[in-house]
Amino acid sequence: MNARESYDGTVQRTLFTAEEIGTAIERMARLIAADYAGQPLLLLGVLKGALYVTVDLARALAAIPDGPSEILVDYLCVSSYGNASRSSGEVRMLKDASEPVAGRHVLVVEDIIDNGLTLAYLRGLLEGRAPASLRACVLFDKPFHRLVDVKVDYVGLSSPDAFVVGYGLDYQEIFRNLPYLAQLQPWVFSKES
Ligand code: PRP
Repeated sequence: MNARESYDGTVQRTLFTAEEIGTAIERMARLIAADYAGQPLLLLGVLKGALYVTVDLARALAAIPDGPSEILVDYLCVSSYGNASRSSGEVRMLKDASEPVAGRHVLVVEDIIDNGLTLAYLRGLLEGRAPASLRACVLFDKPFHRLVDVKVDYVGLSSPDAFVVGYGLDYQEIFRNLPYLAQLQPWVFSKES
């Protein structure tokens, strides 16, 4: 199967266009810029899914006058879904952050929150490293299957109760590079046990 064939016919519908996602990120950036005005901010993107939202949020913040005094961008990498469409329930740290967190204003940047276990794990881990402050920003909130009550400080858009891909979100590592959020055809998952 080549790259093109793996996309054709698999998308059932577009949920949010690239433009709608961009507008939501700019809206979050304005709130974040106001809250951290004059202070240094460490954006901590959660790979792989938050690859794109972290970049676009950092650039949106740069375009706002009177925002944070400086913005550092770092990433860590965790995974709980593997190649399946359902969470394993176990969050694994694949690559830790490079920048120290202690004494810094840290904003965790996530593409999506679903059962909440990933963000709960990260909040616990990072709180233990004594940041000056810790908040979380999530582009897509999917609230239907929360297993833990975890605080999200900035939310971009509400996701429907469906397996969604695009704008960083994958199915079996495919579809992350779609510039929009999409729902896949049910038959795409039919071979999963
Ligand atoms: C996805 C997503 C979040 C997490 C949210 O990551 O990027 O980090 O799941 O789900 P939860 O609220 O149910 O814990 P995934 O584990 O699929 O890794 P990936 O980002 O590399 O795709």
